[in-house]
Amino acid sequence: MPLKDQSHTGVLISFEGSEGSGKTTQMARLAKHLQERGRDVISTREPGGTEIGEQIRNIIVHNSKGDEMCAETELLLFAAARAQLVRENIAPALLRGAIVLSDRYLDSSTVYQGIGRNLAMGPVNQINRFAVGNVMPHITVVIDVPTSVSLSRIRQRASDLPDRMERENIDFYEKVRAGYLVLAKGMPERFIVIDGTKSEDAIEKQIWAELETRIFGKPAKPKGRSVSPKFASKKAPAKARSAKIAKR
Ligand SMILES: Nc1ncnc2c1ncn2[C@@H]1O[C@H](COP(=O)(O)OP(=O)(O)OP(=O)(O)O)[C@@H](O)[C@H]1O
Ligand SMILES: [Mg+2]
Repeated sequence: MPLKDQSHTGVLISFEGSEGSGKTTQMARLAKHLQERGRDVISTREPGGTEIGEQIRNIIVHNSKGDEMCAETELLLFAAARAQLVRENIAPALLRGAIVLSDRYLDSSTVYQGIGRNLAMGPVNQINRFAVGNVMPHITVVIDVPTSVSLSRIRQRASDLPDRMERENIDFYEKVRAGYLVLAKGMPERFIVIDGTKSEDAIEKQIWAELETRIFGKPAKPKGRSVSPKFASKKAPAKARSAKIAKR
């Protein structure tokens, strides 16, 4: 399905980083800030976010024979879920001027399947671009934590059964972490790297300080509205919709 030009409408913000780095926690906090500024906020997650995508997620995450899934299959399944998510949710939301928060997006495939699983970057990038078309993130927040922190937070989630990704070895996580930092260094205009070892409140504050300026031009005055916003919706501020964020 061809995608319409998204360029002067909504804002797509993706959250990236290793398991347990704090993506879901901080995305929920950012959604609140944006809603308080009167923006229409949609929160979604990868893989999943649509009925078809959630079925694909199930195969990827909870496949009992997960260890037998080859890296190429994994890449294509993520891309398939993403293609559906873009066309069903993200693109329509951007067209109406919403701010879309995505818990992971195409950089996850670059880092996990490309760098982590050593798939050739050419095909990974081509498949990524085929899946998302022209719907690229305007801003990507990478929450960076050492692998030891990532693993200890995962282990503390007692109710979670370890899924495929969480059974990976330390080397894999080290590659993922380094991969995100390399990507961010190469595209500083899109990426913001945050130290995920700070407190949740401190991280929230830092993300909001960076994003408020980028999105609205400058911080809110106590009673006024911002001027010359970089990504401000041309429409009247939409009524904030309550965004449901599924816990990953
Ligand atoms: N800055 C922080 N300091 C300490 N603990 C944190 C911090 N941020 C999040 N946590 C805790 O770490 C755990 C993982 O956080 P969260 O689910 O937000 O990470 P995630 O990046 O979404 O993980 P996943 O990739 O597995 O979905 C949660 O128990 C959360 O409460
Ligand atoms: Mg999460």
